[in-house]
Amino acid sequence: MSLTREDKLRELELLPAWKLRAATASKVAEPVAEVAPVVAQTDVSAISWDTLQQMVSGCQACSLAQTRTQTVFGVGDPNADWLFVGEAPGAEEDQQGQPFVGAAGQLLDNMLAAIQLKRGNNVYIANVLKCRPPQNRDPQGEEVAKCDPYLKRQVALIQPKLIIALGKFAAQSLLGSEHTIAAMRGKLHTYQGVPVIVTYHPAYLLRSLNEKAKAWEDLCFARATMHDLCATI
Ligand code: URA
Repeated sequence: MSLTREDKLRELELLPAWKLRAATASKVAEPVAEVAPVVAQTDVSAISWDTLQQMVSGCQACSLAQTRTQTVFGVGDPNADWLFVGEAPGAEEDQQGQPFVGAAGQLLDNMLAAIQLKRGNNVYIANVLKCRPPQNRDPQGEEVAKCDPYLKRQVALIQPKLIIALGKFAAQSLLGSEHTIAAMRGKLHTYQGVPVIVTYHPAYLLRSLNEKAKAWEDLCFARATMHDLCATI
C-alpha cells in the first residue's frame, strides 16, 4: 500500500500542522540550583543504575553544573528494547528534570505512538548531555566528552536492542561522525555494539514540515529493523 504524504502526516498525528507553543520561560533570572554535593567523575564503567543516577545528579565535571537547575538523567523503562537519544535538556526539561517534556516532547510522543510505542513502555529516553547548555546554545566538545561515559554506562545497563539518534547533534556524537543527517539516515550504524538509526530531531520537525514524511520513513525503517532484531536475537 503506498501512502500519500498527507496519509503519512496523518498517521504521525501531524495534521493539522504542529505549531510551536508561545515561549513561556523567561530568559531573565533563571534559577540556579543549589550546589549539589560534589561528585568527582570517576570510572563509571562498572557502577549500578542507582549509583549512576546519583553520580549524574551531583556531577560537577563541567561548567554546565553552575548554570543548570538540575540534571536530566533520562526517563522510561531501564530494561527497554528501544533507546531514544536526544541532544540536551532545554529550559522546560531543566525545570522538570525529565527529557523531552516541551513541544518537541509532545511530537516525540506522537512519533512513538505512530509505531505503537509509548514513553516508559519498553522505551527509554535520554540525552547526550545531562545538563542544559545556557540559552540553549550548542553543546561544546568538552561537555560531550565529560558526559559521554554516563550515556555509555546507561547503554551498557539498559542493553537496548536499538538506539534511535534524534537529530544531527545526537547522531554525530554517538557515531563520532561529522556527516550530515541526510548522509546518516536510512543506514544501520552502531554505538557500543548496539544498532543505531538516525532521524530528525522533533524540534527540527516542528519547524520543517517537509521533513516529517522522511521522519516517518525512518520510523518505519526502525520498526522493521526491530522486527528483524527480535526475530534473530
Ligand atoms: N531536546 C533534546 O534534545 N532533548 C530534550 O530533552 C529536550 C529537547
